[in-house]
Amino acid sequence: MVKEICCIGAGYVGGPTMAVIAFKCPEYKVTVVDINKERIKAWNGDIDKLPIYEPGLKEIVKKTRSNNLFFSNDIDKAIDSSSIIFMAVNTPTKDYGEGKGMATDLTYVEECSKRIAKMSKSNKIVVEKSTAPIGTAEKIKETLSLNNKNVKFEVISNPEFLAEGSAIDDLINPDRVLVGGDQTPSGKEAISQITSIYSNWIAQEKIITTNLWSSELSKLASNAFLAQRVSSINSLSALCEESGANIQEVSKAVGADTRIGNKFLEASVGFGGSCFKKDILNLVYLCKFYGLNEVSEYWHQVIKINDYQKNRFASRIVNELNGTVNNKIITLLGWAFKKDTNDSRESASIDIANYLLTEGAIINVYDPMVSNELIHDDLVNKLKSNGLDNDQIESKISRVNIYDNIYKAAENTFCLSILTEWDEFKDINWAKVSKLAENPLFVADGRNIIEYEVRNSLIDRYISIGNPKIIKSD
Ligand code: NAD
Ligand code: UGA
Repeated sequence: MVKEICCIGAGYVGGPTMAVIAFKCPEYKVTVVDINKERIKAWNGDIDKLPIYEPGLKEIVKKTRSNNLFFSNDIDKAIDSSSIIFMAVNTPTKDYGEGKGMATDLTYVEECSKRIAKMSKSNKIVVEKSTAPIGTAEKIKETLSLNNKNVKFEVISNPEFLAEGSAIDDLINPDRVLVGGDQTPSGKEAISQITSIYSNWIAQEKIITTNLWSSELSKLASNAFLAQRVSSINSLSALCEESGANIQEVSKAVGADTRIGNKFLEASVGFGGSCFKKDILNLVYLCKFYGLNEVSEYWHQVIKINDYQKNRFASRIVNELNGTVNNKIITLLGWAFKKDTNDSRESASIDIANYLLTEGAIINVYDPMVSNELIHDDLVNKLKSNGLDNDQIESKISRVNIYDNIYKAAENTFCLSILTEWDEFKDINWAKVSKLAENPLFVADGRNIIEYEVRNSLIDRYISIGNPKIIKSD
């Protein structure tokens, strides 16, 4: 009999993760379901227009789709026919009520749990793939058993550690897979069923099993540690700019210590993405909830340094332009929160654009992957969250132009600011740009990607992260 798995949530985690499971485990039939009809349509549509851009994803979907990988809106049918159900729904920060702006909104997780309970006619293993506060698996268990007393549910926590832009590599060759479950005989049996899926391609020693609470906390802790490294190096970038130190040199020297390691020490305009901020705020809220105010404040500082970094960079751009950007065109190169993804959630670009718009600038944007609609919606949502009314939003948005070409976006600009480290930005023809842009050519490099020779010979005024500014002398 074919073993059936389903995954609720066809997003950045559900789509790639299930594609890799289907690819590596041909004995399973894998169905990915979602309430979002457009998303499912896109997963079933043109292979070059999948809803999520990830290097290597298209090739895997091409091999598995309609063989043992299916995308569907029929959630109830998929629940009914699967013995293992992954939940990879979104768990955003609450924007209402108790814990607003900090706690995790578990609405989608709860909706899913109720639906699974309602539709299940046989025993199921429910896998919490979404990142959620500690204790969520216990709540899922409660919801399932309260709403269906006829079947037995086991709940497993199997958090995902993939990073966008390298999701397929991360899934195929992960540092570890974490499977948490109840330490009862049936809990251990469920843990073993889930680990047996991953054992198809991942070495046993990389599969860590724990109890439910440890698994949930380890996911939050991993993101907090990673984000903390970025905030640590970014905090020192401010000190470098004030002194004669160079942040890349500092990063290299510090990271060469094998106890510290060289990864995740790249100073930037600030970290973005859908998870770091929300997961750390979740940790901050949990610590507060348990009365651990000092621990809460310790982790909150990681977010505060990140906000400081974004504002600091935007204000340096304004300062370089004689303290005013009113009616000046500023070109933002990159909207995605990092390269190789079409995701812009919590991207530093949104905050930089917002800062500059508030200062009266006209904004030109170019990104090779993020759609115009998404850029537009990100800005509207940001302006709404500032409390602007529709007319004010309309007026600000009319000052934003989105281009599909770097050189068009560079025309008459007072500053080109690199906000995402897309590889193509390393090959910009600066001689051509300097003929199109206002003179002197001013580049604000939020990713430190412009080569030394280029910035010294072709760019008149150059600021970056964690380095003193460079003014070209002819
Ligand atoms: P996403 O927003 O891209 O996808 C979530 C999907 O779930 C959406 O398509 C939404 O329509 C669907 N959904 C919501 N409620 C539903 C319901 N009741 N029934 C069916 N479908 C429903 O989110 P994502 O980036 O894939 O993240 C999912 C989870 O994984 C989050 O908890 C996140 O923290 C975690 N995570 C994300 C990443 C990442 O890099 N994006 C990495 C690791 C973990
Ligand atoms: C991050 C984690 O790396 C994943 O392990 C985790 O699964 C995921 O969050 C999640 O839970 O969602 P992701 O946000 O996709 O993955 O991407 P990262 O590579 O971590 O980058 C996050 C942000 O930090 C980006 O804006 C990136 O540009 C920035 N960053 C990263 C730096 O500024 N400097 C660095 O050295 C590294």
